[in-house]
Amino acid sequence: MELKGVSTAITGGASGLGLAAAQRIIDAGGRVTLIDLPTSDGESVAKELGANAQFAAADITDREQFAAALDTADRDGGLRALVHCAGAGRRMRILDKEGNAGSSDDFEFVIRLNLIGSFNALALGAERMARQPDVDGERGAIVLTASVAAYEGQIGQINYAASKAGIVGMTIVAARDLASKHIRVNTIAPGIMDTPLLGRLRDDVRDSLAATVPNPHRLGKPAEYGQLAASIIENAYLNGETIRLDGAIRMAPR
Ligand SMILES: NC(=O)c1ccc[n+]([C@@H]2O[C@H](COP(=O)([O-])OP(=O)(O)OC[C@H]3O[C@@H](n4cnc5c(N)ncnc54)[C@H](O)[C@@H]3O)[C@@H](O)[C@H]2O)c1
Repeated sequence: MELKGVSTAITGGASGLGLAAAQRIIDAGGRVTLIDLPTSDGESVAKELGANAQFAAADITDREQFAAALDTADRDGGLRALVHCAGAGRRMRILDKEGNAGSSDDFEFVIRLNLIGSFNALALGAERMARQPDVDGERGAIVLTASVAAYEGQIGQINYAASKAGIVGMTIVAARDLASKHIRVNTIAPGIMDTPLLGRLRDDVRDSLAATVPNPHRLGKPAEYGQLAASIIENAYLNGETIRLDGAIRMAPR
């Protein structure tokens, strides 16, 4: 799919990987709607991105809010692409320090945000894309965001790893399910990316994280995520796949 003139919704677009995807898609001539929490910097970030960006406030775990934000993108020339980056982790153990069963609230919070949020992205995004005219055999392309934690979750990530493995599992099913509508679905599983999340860590901690990446021997750049997301949308034959973007890292247990 050509990005030029196409309306793309980007969840979590006010920060980090989503923002980098927005920049890349605008550079390719696309139009973006940043969907992020009302408390985010989405409004000012969209202004900085220029005339081809707009902000639509929504919590992606709320279907009505998410649908309304996607409608905003749809009114911007017809929604054909969606990059779903909104997500987060919350550390937890199966047993806490006292040996008590871990919090089901912490488990459910992350599943709701990352996994149910991704299902909402698929369902609500595809609903709008399916109404678009077919152009060169395509109506839409959806990019989900998992994590290498889907494969090697670390101690403290039982909820996060489960949510991200669920996204990897959904990818081929979603591609098959939406094939008749000519909508493709792919997933990026990033390694350790240098987003604002990691920017808050001490330099020595960042250095030790970077040291665990085989090649290149550094953290991933958000722009590298943006480049891959744009390329997935552009490449019509890429479907049902999860791509690790991680410098060959394989996470240690902790
Ligand atoms: N940074 C990394 O190293 C890394 C590695 C693997 C996977 N990921 C995944 O990539 C995605 C983006 O991460 P990031 O590093 O860019 O994080 P980030 O914190 O910089 O950006 C995430 C954005 O999502 C938004 N968001 C959070 N909850 C939301 C909700 N309920 N509704 C709408 N927006 C919401 C936040 O406001 C924020 O702007 C996440 O799914 C994360 O799990 C990140």
